[in-house]
Amino acid sequence: MKHLLIINGNPDPSPERLSSALAKAYREAAEGRGCVVRQINVGAWPVPPLTQAAEFLSEPTDKHIIEAQGAFLAANHIVFIFPLWLGGPPSALKAFMERVGCGGFLLEQGGRGFPKGRLSGRSARVIVTMGMPPAIYRLFYRAQGVKAFNRSILGLAGIGPVATTYFGGAEITAPGSDRTIKAVRKLGEKLA
Ligand SMILES: Cc1cc2nc3c(=O)[nH]c(=O)nc-3n(C[C@H](O)[C@H](O)[C@H](O)COP(=O)(O)O)c2cc1C
Repeated sequence: MKHLLIINGNPDPSPERLSSALAKAYREAAEGRGCVVRQINVGAWPVPPLTQAAEFLSEPTDKHIIEAQGAFLAANHIVFIFPLWLGGPPSALKAFMERVGCGGFLLEQGGRGFPKGRLSGRSARVIVTMGMPPAIYRLFYRAQGVKAFNRSILGLAGIGPVATTYFGGAEITAPGSDRTIKAVRKLGEKLA
């Protein structure tokens, strides 16, 4: 049985956002497959970004961040859903990951001075919605913001493999949004 953690990285957790609809669709499908699902809405409890390097070394004190760390440890598959904001994840999601990473939660010292990820054994899916066509984002912008998230946060923490799915023209009011929701539901249904 998969223990799933869904992270809705939209700073606005209201049901009117496409991210909320996609998180719901994925969650329902995964639960239908017998998965144990936990969901965190980053926008429901926004945290400030780190302002001092020393904070990163200290254990977090925020109750929600401590709970989030527990949810990461309990999961064997983590799904991130967020809208593209200025070419990358919204800063609220980055701030959340900075806070979750506090106290050496994501990394430890490995051999020869290299950092070693502490969340290995967990896979991830990253679902990104955006206004532009995904082909433009991938080819012209080289998907840099999402690649940085996948490699420099998830990869560094040892999370892998990471599958990424992009949806363009993505607004809940857009004509294709039903298709997008259906496609995300299908991803959840594929979980064993
Ligand atoms: C602050 C902001 C920045 C955005 N930046 C981009 C962008 O860089 N590229 C893009 O294609 N769409 C961009 N968009 C459009 C959003 O990605 C799109 O509205 C979102 O995926 C819709 O999902 P939601 O309903 O969950 O917010 C931006 C939207 C906002 C509000």
